[in-house]
Amino acid sequence: MRILLFGRNGQVGWELQRSLAPLGQLVALGSGRQDGLCGDFHDAEGIARTVRELRPDAIVNAAAYTAVDKAESEPERAEQVNAATPGVIAQVAHQIGAWLVHYSTDYVFDGNGTRPWREDDAAAPLGVYGRTKLAGEQRIVAANPRHLILRTSWVYGARGGNFPKTMLRLAREREQLSVIDDQVGAPTGADLLADVTAHALRDLAAGRGQPGIYHVAAAGETTWNGYARFVVGKAQQAGEIFKAGPDRILPVPSSAFPTPARRPHNSRLDTSRFRATFRLDLPPWEQGVARMLEELPQN
Ligand SMILES: NC(=O)c1ccc[n+]([C@@H]2O[C@H](COP(=O)([O-])OP(=O)(O)OC[C@H]3O[C@@H](n4cnc5c(N)ncnc54)[C@H](OP(=O)(O)O)[C@@H]3O)[C@@H](O)[C@H]2O)c1
Repeated sequence: MRILLFGRNGQVGWELQRSLAPLGQLVALGSGRQDGLCGDFHDAEGIARTVRELRPDAIVNAAAYTAVDKAESEPERAEQVNAATPGVIAQVAHQIGAWLVHYSTDYVFDGNGTRPWREDDAAAPLGVYGRTKLAGEQRIVAANPRHLILRTSWVYGARGGNFPKTMLRLAREREQLSVIDDQVGAPTGADLLADVTAHALRDLAAGRGQPGIYHVAAAGETTWNGYARFVVGKAQQAGEIFKAGPDRILPVPSSAFPTPARRPHNSRLDTSRFRATFRLDLPPWEQGVARMLEELPQN
């Protein structure tokens, strides 16, 4: 299989370079130009030319405008990257008979209630990011029946900055931390997403499974506060010394940290459709986070 990956330097894109490699011939593009190929989603025509030139069997799009707060003041840029260009990719993919794998988010929902969201629940995004991600889904679904759209939540990657690393640093520096405890979700590793993407794509290419929109996240649930306490507690058990141990990580409501974009309170995703269709397990969130912590360089 020939695969074209966009967004190779993001959290998920980075892991996809590893997980997609065994499926065949992989061309992985970042957000710039590379060997005459275009990876910049602000240049939809250049992206279309690149897809036509490479004629891949599958396109995996991990590029996205993910700055949730900044999107509120840059709606056109977010729309271009999250909706317009993915729509163009889907059109070209349809013309050349290629699969398109794309990622979306629990932010397409308003976060009301406590029930885990199912794929066919009504979307009602709270902000620009969620609206543009929803528009991207709709354009892809309309343009190319051969799509796999994975909605996920609370993604972390071992590479670069992430929430656990920030919490560890702050817990070393400060006597006490305040972390939000009224948003519920499941921290999901970029490595897990990349691995299940490769399995599902392989199934689809072999005529198994079903195209469509699926919810994919690690199992279980927590709050940002519970996530922070877990991370600091694990590191403490491993011998690290903190000024703010888990019992000094205080719960506060989201209103304590006003942000330009509102976030959903309920980010729980019901993943049963994905697990049943592709016969995969999604491990508890603690498993992936603990593993990522073990990989961090010791301070
Ligand atoms: N992070 C989360 O918590 C989360 C939650 C739910 C869903 N998702 C979805 O999961 C997918 C992967 O997210 P992620 O966490 O891996 O995101 P990420 O780490 O922010 O990576 C996004 C990538 O998109 C690229 N990008 C941004 N603007 C671009 C442009 N104009 N042209 C081409 N590439 C561009 C960035 O490239 P540069 O680095 O070069 O700018 C970056 O490599 C996205 O679809 C996102 O919406 C993420």
